Amino acid sequence: MPRWHCASSGLGLDLSREQLAEQPARLVLEHGSALVMPFGDGAVDKCYSVEAAQHFEDRTAFATEARRVLRPGGKLCAAPFFATDESAPGDGIDYAVPIEAFRAGLHEVGFADVRVESIGDRVRQGFDTWVSQTQCKGSWGRNWLKANRAGLADYFLVTASVSRVTSRK
Ligand SMILES: C[S@@+](CC[C@H](N)C(=O)[O-])C[C@H]1O[C@@H](n2cnc3c(N)ncnc32)[C@H](O)[C@@H]1O
Repeated sequence: MPRWHCASSGLGLDLSREQLAEQPARLVLEHGSALVMPFGDGAVDKCYSVEAAQHFEDRTAFATEARRVLRPGGKLCAAPFFATDESAPGDGIDYAVPIEAFRAGLHEVGFADVRVESIGDRVRQGFDTWVSQTQCKGSWGRNWLKANRAGLADYFLVTASVSRVTSRK
């Protein structure tokens, strides 16, 4: 994997004002959509998406926007959960979007060096423990551990780069 650096500052977006209120104070936060980012072309060095891409209603729009706002040489890092393949059932685990569709979408909009790493083994127990302590403890979220153990869904670390010399698609 490439080396990634923690940002000491940044600007975060979320559709939910409640979620924004819970985020770290060192981030500047705005109410907005990751599908229509309020940044100019090439204005962003690094784009991080944590625990969110599986909820986006249009992942191609997200990929297109991330590609647009990142500068040449910029990096995307996303940590979503997705279905492991096309055969996963479409109910019980939120959106059963196959990881391959997300990976292919990033490649399609012009990202280079798209890499996908399974990290479910490292996060699944902690994720389930967290869900069990929230108001979602009786929801689909508790199915995630079972779905991961059955090989239906997984957490992924997805990284991609914008080439230093590129032609926009
Ligand atoms: C599981 S929460 C994770 C929130 C935060 N990233 C974190 O790790 O604590 C998923 C978030 O995705 C947000 N979301 C869904 N669609 C979005 C979109 N199009 N643009 C921005 N945020 C979106 C939801 O509002 C929700 O807060």
